[in-house]
Amino acid sequence: MDFIPPKRKPIPTHYAPQPKAAKPQIGGGKPFVSSKPAAKPLGKAGPERGSERGPAKKPPLVLQPTTLWDYPSQHYGEGQQGSQAYRGATPSYVIWNLLARYTKPKDLVIDPFCGSGTTLDVARDLGRRALGYDLNPQRPDIFRVDARKLPPELAGKADCVFMDPPYSTHIDYSDDPRCIGKLDAGKGRAYYEAMEGAIEEAHRVLKPGGHFGLYVSDSYEHKGGKGQFHPIGFELFALMRKRFTPVDVVCVTRHNKTLEMGNFRMAAEEGNFFLRGFNYLFIVKKAV
Ligand SMILES: C[S@@+](CC[C@H](N)C(=O)[O-])C[C@H]1O[C@@H](n2cnc3c(N)ncnc32)[C@H](O)[C@@H]1O
Repeated sequence: MDFIPPKRKPIPTHYAPQPKAAKPQIGGGKPFVSSKPAAKPLGKAGPERGSERGPAKKPPLVLQPTTLWDYPSQHYGEGQQGSQAYRGATPSYVIWNLLARYTKPKDLVIDPFCGSGTTLDVARDLGRRALGYDLNPQRPDIFRVDARKLPPELAGKADCVFMDPPYSTHIDYSDDPRCIGKLDAGKGRAYYEAMEGAIEEAHRVLKPGGHFGLYVSDSYEHKGGKGQFHPIGFELFALMRKRFTPVDVVCVTRHNKTLEMGNFRMAAEEGNFFLRGFNYLFIVKKAV
């Protein structure tokens, strides 16, 4: 995939320098304004929602008060966090809400599936330190590391881990044979074993009391009438519970463009299956 890495200031140390922290507001407070200058769009971005009637007006960035989260656009503010051009990029509103609630300024946030770097940008906007890893890093401040083998020296260092891993084989991220996106959740246990390795690493790098958010969707394979549902969310939550204390389960509305496409809707009606309407955000905590 064509991807032009953004020009960023070099990061002098393993831990990035921090901008001023922003105070989160609960419900209808003053909008959060990013402390960074607006980033230029990266690569060819798809249209924002509402673009047919001109650019959608972005509402204030506020803490979500319930366990049903919606986000008005992939990015907040004037620029982008991570890259809209990266398939599978996480909506930055989701990460902002997680970090605003469960971390404080200067805390260390780790994302082992960092992709285009959304978590790094959000964490730095909030004045948190951040480290990102991925097998297919999209920018120089993300390290090429397997999420199941994070650097040993990180043990017990993180205040928060966020991950948005592959959900089975929906997206071809890279040719790296270690990519978890090559493992079919419907064929044996290999996908879940790989994810258990990543969850175990999240536990190792977290401080006692640290929070871990995992963003994931179930999957439905529409095989010409012989469809199969894979409850990836429930399976991963069961793996998380082996090591962590549950904090909450959030449902995040999906704004995937395929949901709005007529042929997908028709196939779902004719085949009597559902299109994925939400992602889970599982929030757990490492015991003190
Ligand atoms: C859903 S995307 C993450 C998107 C990211 N949060 C963002 O906003 O750009 C999943 C990522 O997992 C990465 N990945 C897959 N297997 C991996 C592994 N074993 N270790 C580290 N990263 C992996 C892929 O390269 C891909 O970038």
